[in-house]
Amino acid sequence: MRCGSAVEWMRGEPMTWRRAYLGRLDQVAAARQFAATLFAGSGHEADVAFIVTELATNAIRHSRSGDHGGWFGLDLIFADVATIGVSDLGGGKVPTVLPEPPGGEPKGYGQGLRAVSKLAVALGVHGRPDYGHTVWAEVDMRVNETIREGLATTLTS
Ligand SMILES: Nc1ncnc2c1ncn2[C@@H]1O[C@H](COP(=O)(O)OP(=O)(O)OP(=O)(O)O)[C@@H](O)[C@H]1O
Ligand SMILES: [Mg+2]
Repeated sequence: MRCGSAVEWMRGEPMTWRRAYLGRLDQVAAARQFAATLFAGSGHEADVAFIVTELATNAIRHSRSGDHGGWFGLDLIFADVATIGVSDLGGGKVPTVLPEPPGGEPKGYGQGLRAVSKLAVALGVHGRPDYGHTVWAEVDMRVNETIREGLATTLTS
């Protein structure tokens, strides 16, 4: 058996998971817990859990996923560069990283995707407002320090 660190062993083969959740806030918590458990021991479980929370909350708040009977989908890929994707039911709006408000102004809404962009090495969206979007973020599991600020501040398709 190959000797190395436990984290190297965990990342030996990419692992993928997919789950669907009802479009309710308690299901955001369930998705967060699911992701945190799957990434436990990687050193990045808190970042992954945060990203799942932000993307799933957006799906419920900004798309039909939050309507009665709605749902959202969660994709997770555990690899050197992990992928977190949340799919929603659309509804007219477009996921957008909003600019930082000028200094001194209250932060208010629009912080979620900006915060995700600072944790991620890439952030993107595909889909259509009428049909639904998948918003995805990539997290470099090999990076420990938070030196990525500014690397991914815009959404790319
Ligand atoms: N899944 C989505 N579907 C459609 N529009 C979205 C989606 N996610 C985000 N958006 C749009 O992008 C904007 C920015 O999202 P972001 O998460 O940064 O802010 P917010 O959800 O409005 O507030 P906050 O996350 O700070 O509570 C939202 O206001 C919304 O218009
Ligand atoms: Mg948000």
